[in-house]
Amino acid sequence: MPWTLARRAHRMNPSLIREILKVTERPGVISLAGGLPAPQTFPVEVMREAAQHVLQDSPYEALQYAASEGHAPLREWLAQHLVQQGMQVDPAQVLITSGSQQGLDLVAKVLIDADARVAVETPTYLGALQAFTPFEPQMQAIECDDEGPTPEGIAAARGARFAYLLPNFQNPTGRTMSEARRDAVVRAAQAAGLPLVEDNPYGDLWFDEAPPASLAARWPEGVVYLGSFSKVLAPGLRLGYLVAPTALYPKLLQAKQAADLHTPVFNQRLVHEVIRGGFLDTHVPSIRERYRAQRDAMAQALQRHLPEGCHWQVPRGGMFFWVRAPEGVDTMAMLEDAVEQGMAYVPGSAFYAGAAPANTLRLSFVTVTPDRIEQGVAALARAMAAHRARMQRPAA
Ligand SMILES: Cc1ncc(COP(=O)(O)O)c(C=O)c1O
Repeated sequence: MPWTLARRAHRMNPSLIREILKVTERPGVISLAGGLPAPQTFPVEVMREAAQHVLQDSPYEALQYAASEGHAPLREWLAQHLVQQGMQVDPAQVLITSGSQQGLDLVAKVLIDADARVAVETPTYLGALQAFTPFEPQMQAIECDDEGPTPEGIAAARGARFAYLLPNFQNPTGRTMSEARRDAVVRAAQAAGLPLVEDNPYGDLWFDEAPPASLAARWPEGVVYLGSFSKVLAPGLRLGYLVAPTALYPKLLQAKQAADLHTPVFNQRLVHEVIRGGFLDTHVPSIRERYRAQRDAMAQALQRHLPEGCHWQVPRGGMFFWVRAPEGVDTMAMLEDAVEQGMAYVPGSAFYAGAAPANTLRLSFVTVTPDRIEQGVAALARAMAAHRARMQRPAA
């Protein structure tokens, strides 16, 4: 072929999850693999009415090119919303992005040189690894425990361009950093001069109590904060945002201009029209209620069906359970058994930058009814039994 690929293109890989979904999306398979929000939570009627308003009130502005920073009233709304959550944010620090995934890409473009170190949690969000890897960093795994990154792990990342952290209901583990851990992590980062990129798409989806204030609230000049409307309104809008320290904002804006000039302004005006009267104050609690019931169903099903030696934490929000199967289980190899038994999950090794344990897996509980969750987890237990029996059988 006449094309020569750039070095960075060689680093691009298809998302393992998307590849797995292709295999597992067979009729009859209960998929606990996907990471999609429940479509029943999309406020279709409210969107329809808001779209009509936008097209009546400001049709030409909504269909014209617009400012790269984003729609000013939406930026103002976001700044105010985040201030209520304890952050210090001026609207001028808010950049509207095409999903928080674009925020990750912009951060990567602006901050990563080839061979520079970037520190990530173990495990971490696969989409962030996809965004960072083409810029050829050395990935450094941060030591983590059940609460996420340890302060020692953060201290050991001194010299990295940034540490990428997910304090709330992390994807994939569902874990959350406590108040004390957040303080300790920020102190360690400040002592190490290590900037943080805080990704928070799930923070509003808490089931029991709101999580502690963000890392950005504790260290405004050292944190780029990423947020999203994907999990509280609809991911197809591709509407996210970042809050950047003033010193960094112009570079992120220039990267945004090069990427797409601006995020679709129709979508920005639509979302602002939907949320400006307080819609999220009733809508988000309804999502929480729905997901909480599904979380409870999965917690009970795991307790009922999984064999001794399996471990998991019950997530206090978000969309995922993370299961550690007994040593010797290989969740990548077991996926075949799972699909045969009628369910699918994501093998945990997809979420590691480096060496990965073979025995972890991620389960999503939000797109499947409690009944189907029960059936899906029962099928997982059968798959694990079949897989272990196969592993123990001496080779012929
Ligand atoms: C941790 C995390 N960050 C970012 C994203 C991307 O979200 P968005 O739809 O806002 O681009 C996701 C999507 O699942 C996610 O789980």
